Amino acid sequence: MKELSLHILDVVQNSIAAGSTLVSINITEDLDTDLFIIEIIDNGCGMDEDYAEKIKDPFITRRKSRKVGLGIPLLYAAGKRCEGDLKIESKKGKGTRITAWLKHSHIDRAPLGNMADTIKILIVCNPEVDFSYNHKKNEKEFNFDTREVKRILGDVSISEMEVITWIEEQVKEGLKSLNGGADTL
Ligand SMILES: Nc1ncnc2c1ncn2[C@@H]1O[C@H](COP(=O)(O)OP(=O)(O)OP(=O)(O)O)[C@@H](O)[C@H]1O
Ligand SMILES: [Mg+2]
Repeated sequence: MKELSLHILDVVQNSIAAGSTLVSINITEDLDTDLFIIEIIDNGCGMDEDYAEKIKDPFITRRKSRKVGLGIPLLYAAGKRCEGDLKIESKKGKGTRITAWLKHSHIDRAPLGNMADTIKILIVCNPEVDFSYNHKKNEKEFNFDTREVKRILGDVSISEMEVITWIEEQVKEGLKSLNGGADTL
């Protein structure tokens, strides 16, 4: 069972490959409606409507190295397995929004995994791209935005080791506060 954070990492890689300068990762855990919603919005190159319809199918890809693309189909399958689904909205030249939802309490729903690590990897590998991470759990909410961090840092690079360690702590603590001090499942 693949952790949801690894699916998120895959889908955000698509946004980066599409030339995005800003990627928003929004997670909503609504225990009243029993939903776990993952939304990834980017301002990359986008796709045609009919192509966007097709990419849930693993045999559609622009990759040259192999014939199947798996990022989207795997998240789609994870949603389907848990009474959920996946929606792709995209405009060529404007950007893309991928929304996946799963039944929160479903026995097959993978745990979220390590979002602090995911955010850290994304920033270290793509320091020029901005990331915003918003995580809501019922009435509680945590926000993190690299644009704010960069504003405070001034000339210091966001990929400096001390900064990255600080970011990891921020995300860890933020997520703990959503869960009353416990780690997210
Ligand atoms: N955010 C996006 N913006 C523009 N095009 C996208 C975006 N996400 C997906 N695509 C297009 O959809 C295709 C399928 O994506 P998917 O992640 O399923 O596979 P892949 O990226 O080709 O391969 P893999 O994820 O296995 O490395 C991509 O090759 C790309 O052409
Ligand atoms: Mg991909």
